[in-house]
Amino acid sequence: MSKSIVPANIEQLKPYVAGKTIAEVVEAYQPEQISKLASNENRLGHSSSVEKAIQEAVKVIHDYPDPLSKKLRKAISESIGLLPENIIVGSGSESLLGILCKTFFQNKQNIITADVTFIGMYVQAQIRGVKIKKIPLTKDYRFDIKAMVNAIDEHTRMLYIANPNNPTGTYITKEEFEWLISKVPEDVLIIMDEAYYEFAHQVNNYPDVLSYKQNNVITLRTFSKGYGLAGFRVGYAIAKKSLIDYMLKTKLAFEPGGLGQAAALAAFQDREFLEQSREVVETGKQELYSFFDEQKVKYIPSISNFVMMIFDSEEEAIFFTQKMLEEGVILRRINAFGLPNCIRVTIGLKKEMEHFRRSFLKVLNQA
Ligand SMILES: Cc1ncc(COP(=O)(O)O)c(C=O)c1O
Repeated sequence: MSKSIVPANIEQLKPYVAGKTIAEVVEAYQPEQISKLASNENRLGHSSSVEKAIQEAVKVIHDYPDPLSKKLRKAISESIGLLPENIIVGSGSESLLGILCKTFFQNKQNIITADVTFIGMYVQAQIRGVKIKKIPLTKDYRFDIKAMVNAIDEHTRMLYIANPNNPTGTYITKEEFEWLISKVPEDVLIIMDEAYYEFAHQVNNYPDVLSYKQNNVITLRTFSKGYGLAGFRVGYAIAKKSLIDYMLKTKLAFEPGGLGQAAALAAFQDREFLEQSREVVETGKQELYSFFDEQKVKYIPSISNFVMMIFDSEEEAIFFTQKMLEEGVILRRINAFGLPNCIRVTIGLKKEMEHFRRSFLKVLNQA
């Protein structure tokens, strides 16, 4: 057999598989209505101010964008009470995960995370040949921070926690975060991925990570979820200046592009849209919980814009996802996350959630 021209970590890499697009579902099933509830996007769309900002920004797309996203960093830093030097902007938080992996790891160093969390973290680590120690979630589907701390060894460079976690929607509390920072050595970085921060931070007991000003904590946030800009690819990291400086060395010089920077700035300044997005999610979630309770569907209460359903078997989950797809409701099976009997549903608009419930009952009758 011929020898591979790529290293083993790339040969064995399972690339990230995204949820189905609307066009793919239309082509396959021609349903009357489509509700895309698979990828935790903002179903309300985006702030109207974004389009005006893009029209302006498009006038200069022949020039390279600002490599340091200065305007955006200034706006973010002012809102969180830190300096622009404490922030790096990248092409989505997924790119920032890649930047973390290429910046901070040397031979044999490992990252500790859960066995069920955002796949992008696993992919970025594997691309860089970083060893991942996956710690099983607790029985109630939460990060097992005690077991994670126990797993720290001399080669551990980083702990990764998605808070709230994707796909479970569970979170580590203020007390747990305080315990964590008291136990993790200073030279081990703690990555707090707050991709769903905008939906989560008002929840009682959700840790205000930035207020601790920890030297070894890097917080990640994104414009893809609460701000509705998943298509633009803009995310940011917040940390002490020396860590940000290292990350700035390894990021692609001109990420994110100029349109993304302008769109993110406009979105960031529209607090009203964010509030409306939160309301859509909160109302939709409460109605969904009531429906699940009535139908005796098992689910995990979530502080995010999605909810995980638990079925009795993988077969049931496959059947249900497929039948819902044929009805035009796109859901996400989370077998690739390590839970083959679970399905994740993004909270959508009222009409989308009605479509979900109608289709759910129809599929239930066929089961
Ligand atoms: C926990 C978590 N982190 C990061 C991301 C990636 O976000 P972005 O669009 O900013 O790359 C996601 C996307 O689903 C996520 O769930």
